[in-house]
Amino acid sequence: MKSVIITGASSGIGKELAFEFARNGFNLGLIARRFELLQEIREEIKQLKNFSGKIEIAALDVKDYKSVFITLKDLASRLGGISHLIANAGIAGSKPIGTNNFTHDKEVIEVNVIGAMACFEAGIQIFESQNSFGHLIGISSIAGFRGFPSNSSYSASKAAFTTYLEAARIDVAKKNILVTAILPGFIDTPINSEMKNRPFLISAEVGAKKIYKVIIKKKEFAIVPYYPWIIVSFFMKIIPNFIWKRLKFD
Ligand SMILES: NC(=O)c1ccc[n+]([C@@H]2O[C@H](COP(=O)([O-])OP(=O)(O)OC[C@H]3O[C@@H](n4cnc5c(N)ncnc54)[C@H](OP(=O)(O)O)[C@@H]3O)[C@@H](O)[C@H]2O)c1
Repeated sequence: MKSVIITGASSGIGKELAFEFARNGFNLGLIARRFELLQEIREEIKQLKNFSGKIEIAALDVKDYKSVFITLKDLASRLGGISHLIANAGIAGSKPIGTNNFTHDKEVIEVNVIGAMACFEAGIQIFESQNSFGHLIGISSIAGFRGFPSNSSYSASKAAFTTYLEAARIDVAKKNILVTAILPGFIDTPINSEMKNRPFLISAEVGAKKIYKVIIKKKEFAIVPYYPWIIVSFFMKIIPNFIWKRLKFD
């Protein structure tokens, strides 16, 4: 069975992952809030040469935690079961704390952490009901390695999600479920298109191809692209606070 559910599939990395999995013979279950974009993507994928798989789509806000369970189970059953679930949906758009941005900062945590956790719980229930091997993938970020000023809620959400993925991997290993944590660097998508400085930027298409390879190789953890971010992130983690706070991020 080669079927993947991807959350946040209406744009950016999730959309390109949908194309990459389709090109590689997977059935697709695509989720996002903007249903009309999913409809357009479904039509484009159907036009791909050699694609003969199923595509099921569903509108879902991952903050609607009860609906996450219902929608993912429904999508999995429409696909005849799934082998992979990618918790990719995410938002950014933080501002400096103390600038009246609490409502948005709260939403960043609700989507990036709690929404993703709900998807994972639903995915585990699906894999258990299928009595089959399952692969859960979480899209976190290198932004979780340190607290980025003006992006505190985003950095915090990704630090939390990466830590969650590390523990989740151990918890579900005995259920024959694999957990992969993917930490992208800068990938050219709407989430960061207004940022002035996007070092080592790669396109969403290239990013999705690299992420696909990591998933198929069943890696537990990957920084994407590996170079130069493996080196940059090493220094990010060890730079002392007095230097970190002098760096310019915009
Ligand atoms: N691009 C980068 O450089 C980069 C780097 C590191 C990590 N990431 C992570 O990669 C993931 C994908 O981001 P992207 O770069 O592809 O950004 P994007 O183009 O803005 O895509 C975000 C996706 O998440 C969906 N989404 C947002 N809120 C949602 C909600 N409440 N419920 C359901 N779906 C929701 C959006 O769909 P709707 O608006 O239609 O719901 C959209 O499909 C995110 O988790 C992001 O943090 C990105």
